[in-house]
Amino acid sequence: MKQKTAFHCTNCDYRPPKWVGCCPECSEWGSIAEVQMTGSKKGSGLATTADLKLLHEIPSETHKRFTCGIDEWDRVLGGGIVPGSFLILTGDPGIGKSTLLLQVASHLAQNHTVFYFSSEESLQQVKLRAERLQANTNNLYFSDKAELETIAATAQKEKPHILIIDSIQNCYFDKIQTIPGSVGQLREAGFFLMQLAKQHNIAIILTGHITKDGTIAGPKMLEHMVDGVFYLQGEDRWQTRILRSVKNRFGALDELGFFQMEEHGLEQVPNINQQLLSQATYSPGSCLISSIEGSRPLLVELQALTVPSKFGMPQRIVSGIDQKQVQLIAANLEKYLQIKFSSYDIFFKVSGCLKIKDNSADLGIALALLSSFFQKPLPEKSIALGEISLTGQIKPVNLIKTHINEAQKFGIERIFLAKNQAVDKIPKESRVFKHVYELLSLFED
Ligand code: TYD
Ligand code: MG
Repeated sequence: MKQKTAFHCTNCDYRPPKWVGCCPECSEWGSIAEVQMTGSKKGSGLATTADLKLLHEIPSETHKRFTCGIDEWDRVLGGGIVPGSFLILTGDPGIGKSTLLLQVASHLAQNHTVFYFSSEESLQQVKLRAERLQANTNNLYFSDKAELETIAATAQKEKPHILIIDSIQNCYFDKIQTIPGSVGQLREAGFFLMQLAKQHNIAIILTGHITKDGTIAGPKMLEHMVDGVFYLQGEDRWQTRILRSVKNRFGALDELGFFQMEEHGLEQVPNINQQLLSQATYSPGSCLISSIEGSRPLLVELQALTVPSKFGMPQRIVSGIDQKQVQLIAANLEKYLQIKFSSYDIFFKVSGCLKIKDNSADLGIALALLSSFFQKPLPEKSIALGEISLTGQIKPVNLIKTHINEAQKFGIERIFLAKNQAVDKIPKESRVFKHVYELLSLFED
């Protein structure tokens, strides 16, 4: 029987129906190769009933997670690393991925075997860093090999509990004729390592670069294949680093862990709300809110600056929150309070390079805008919690008890909330509002 052939691009793995000189996907010339299709075997027919299991017949997850004792890391991962899981840690170059992984590896190595393949740095560089971090190096083995077959063969033979590959973009398959980090290489690597993790029950953590637009370089499918995607973020001038789970099959999404880059590596920040509150400015244009990120509330300062616009088109410069959300609230205030924000430039940010997605920030956005507009600060130690509807109604928020408990831990007794918010016990200095009309009373003398 004549064997079927197919075509694929050796650069991006695109599969054109016939041979072409230039790949329509990645525009590479001469990259299309012909491959023999391995005839698919006929299936063995219907599954037998033995393949179907009732819930009680499925063995429970017996393995315990690998906890490293760095609480901020363990929590973001959903309570530690699940054996056999396949994870990726990504972030800008120099943000601290290698530092964090080496610290995690060093803690894990107290009870587990960890292999650290550092394809990005030489063993001398890794040694220097490990010494700087005063890392524990029992059961922690290093190699600078970058060839994936070698890495996998070593892991299969030695069976470590955890395998770290820093970074995946520097690793390669000998059999694929493209440069390390290319889409074709990453696609193969993702699939190959996923099988290694699942079949041999080895937890694998990769590091990966991100592109300028903030996504993991390479195919999106790398993100689909892994069990968890974690971003390490921060600003250069800010020493704080935020670890965020953007995908986690074994834990909550958007869980945040806070670290501080110090002389001896990343130190965890155990009480981030205390730190955030200590940085609050309580000046005109600032409003504190509470926002649930992952599983816990964060007390975050919103900052607004409104100035009369010099040009026909007013500027809207927003960071840390969806620009549309700010525009919508500004339009709402314009409609119901007759404040002409449409002839004002609005600059808006969330302090501490945090990113807020919560609709419960609506009331805080409105109060920050009004506070800047009237140049009057809101009362110190007050937080705003409420959604605002298009009709200007202030609406209740979810998990109000969690927000209030956290605020009260820091002595905040003044909460601005919706009139119909069901709360067992409203803190004594709180104010309730039904409609945005009533917000003006906060800025009257
Ligand atoms: P690194 O972990 O190499 O970043 P990545 O792997 O994400 O590229 O971290 C690099 C930065 O961290 C570097 O600028 C130096 C700084 N650093 C410290 O400030 N303290 C330390 O103890 C270590 C190890 C690094
Ligand atoms: Mg690195």
